[in-house]
Amino acid sequence: MVKKTTQLYEGKAKKVYATDEKGVYIVSYKDDATAFNGLKKGSIEGKGAINNRVSNHLMALLEKEGIPTHFIETLNDRETAVKAVQIVPLEVIVRNIAAGSLSKRLGLDEGVKLETTVLEFCYKRDDLGDPMVNEYHIKALGLASEDEIKTISDYSFKINTYLSAYLLDLGIELVDFKLEFGRTEDGNIILADEISPDTCRFWDSKTKMKLDKDRFRRDLGGVEDAYKEILKRLMGAE
Ligand code: TMP
Repeated sequence: MVKKTTQLYEGKAKKVYATDEKGVYIVSYKDDATAFNGLKKGSIEGKGAINNRVSNHLMALLEKEGIPTHFIETLNDRETAVKAVQIVPLEVIVRNIAAGSLSKRLGLDEGVKLETTVLEFCYKRDDLGDPMVNEYHIKALGLASEDEIKTISDYSFKINTYLSAYLLDLGIELVDFKLEFGRTEDGNIILADEISPDTCRFWDSKTKMKLDKDRFRRDLGGVEDAYKEILKRLMGAE
């Protein structure tokens, strides 16, 4: 089995390690939770293990749908072997229903269905507060090429279509979510990072109850239970 060698990076929710196999990294999911660019700090018991399972489950489904992802294999509760990539420094946000920063910025009530899916890019720069950028900024700063932006956009819409339908069958509305992509050594764009209640807004389709990190961000209580509920619905569908 693949073994960790040196730690390459520690983020707010995960650590990434180099391994004894070329082209393979190991990610290790933490229980730490932050919000508002690290201003709010806490911990969500069991989150690392849940996000590891949720993200791997969804990435495996996406692979079957023809979306290339970094997922290789689950190693244990919180660790997964992934393809080594260089992360494209963009947060790609896909929105179906108004919520969060979109509601604030455009004065839309949370829960308003958008007439078309909205795609946003933010420059991954904590020191700048991850500012929103458009395709011109991305090219002007050399963050990604025109072809890469097109690939990333196409994959993001496909992921949204597939996941929205899959989750709705489980009684979950996919309100919005954030994706990150990486470049493999041979220059291909693949889906990286995670897809979990940390990075998505999941609402119960009937009650509209929030089943994601907004419970932590907004001090709504029942954070652990919401993460467990998402895992239960996904695993029940296996
Ligand atoms: P926003 O409404 O705060 O811009 O968030 C949009 C989506 O992106 C939401 O599903 C949460 C996710 N997200 C992250 O995964 N990481 C972040 O740092 C932020 C700000 C949002």
